[in-house]
Amino acid sequence: MMPSSPFVISFLLLVSVPVLYVLAPRILPPKTLPSIPDRDEIDDLALFRRATLASAAGGGGGDGLRRHPAVPPKIAFMFLTNSDLSFAPLWERFFHGHERLFNVYIHADPSTRFLLPLTPSFRGRFIHAKATQRASPTLISAARRLLAAALLDDPANAFFALISQHCIPLHSFRFTYDAFLADPGAPAPSRGDGALHRRHRSFIEIVAGDPELLKRYVARGDNVMLPEVSFDQFRYGSQFFVLARRHAVLVVRDRRLWNKFKLPCLKSREDSCYPEEHYFPTLLEMQDPEGCTHYTLTRVNWTDSVGGHPHTYQLPEISGDLIKDLRTSNSTYSYLFARKFSPDCLDPLLKLADSVIFRD
Ligand SMILES: *[C@@H]1O[C@H](CO)[C@@H](O)[C@H](O)[C@H]1NC(C)=O
Ligand SMILES: *[C@@H]1O[C@H](CO)[C@@H](O)[C@H](O)[C@H]1NC(C)=O
Repeated sequence: MMPSSPFVISFLLLVSVPVLYVLAPRILPPKTLPSIPDRDEIDDLALFRRATLASAAGGGGGDGLRRHPAVPPKIAFMFLTNSDLSFAPLWERFFHGHERLFNVYIHADPSTRFLLPLTPSFRGRFIHAKATQRASPTLISAARRLLAAALLDDPANAFFALISQHCIPLHSFRFTYDAFLADPGAPAPSRGDGALHRRHRSFIEIVAGDPELLKRYVARGDNVMLPEVSFDQFRYGSQFFVLARRHAVLVVRDRRLWNKFKLPCLKSREDSCYPEEHYFPTLLEMQDPEGCTHYTLTRVNWTDSVGGHPHTYQLPEISGDLIKDLRTSNSTYSYLFARKFSPDCLDPLLKLADSVIFRD
């Protein structure tokens, strides 16, 4: 006999509600892009905590050098990549002879297949990396991981330059190093002895008032950034920056803004999802606008860009005049780095190295 009393039917209906609740997310397509795996988030928190504590203990929260007067300040070159470091031979020439003044760190997506042999400055310089992808906060995490690793590794690291595998230098190492250190800096609060200390500034682009900004602000959903980040506090800027040490610490220590920026974008707003172009400029503008130059040192060409990718320079375009063109900027400093270059530009660039690129 079939159980068909009204009681059984309502019982079945009742049972089906939780079943649907469990199954629906697996059957229906998700509304958001993938979020950061919990495992990665936990590992990062531990790393960032160590870096923050070490910086506080070593006095590194300032400009990091007071305790090590005999060691000159160094530049941390942080390479963010998911393919071969095609321009490593050019970077080798750039680094040559300045071994005491820099460190290299590499965050390579775990799926990266390196086909080219690693050159000496890059060997053994890999940090523990996690998967990265566009339109996701994983690119922020990777940059923060690089900052934390560089903070922990060497208290002499004073500037932290984010570089991609498609970036090249536009000047000599000396010129670049001096440009960072010669910056007049921002005034720091007097420390009681009457002298006005100056602090290094970060070279980071920070822009407000772009017509696309609102779309980018709501990429994770309407009002989700509130109350931590109101729209008028929201900024954008190039993903590529050079941070002063105290700002590297500030970024690694941040939990408040990260809790918002780590939220995945809505699938329907994927086209406006560039978290790595927003997190750093917004955080630094909120915390220390005076300590930032508001412009980037990395030249990029957005003319005729397609799908959010800038112009990629190809072999026939490479010339001494191009290098000189790319250096020219509207700010106080000329550009020191440029992107993006296709791998086959290496040979012509090497030929121009001594006659143009490293001749400042
Ligand atoms: C920028 O890219 C465009 C093509 O997209 C090219 O015509 C132009 O020469 C490039 N500008 C510079 C300064 O290299
Ligand atoms: C400098 O500013 C002018 C005028 O705003 C602009 O046309 C030009 O593209 C800028 N050059 C660079 C290198 O940003």
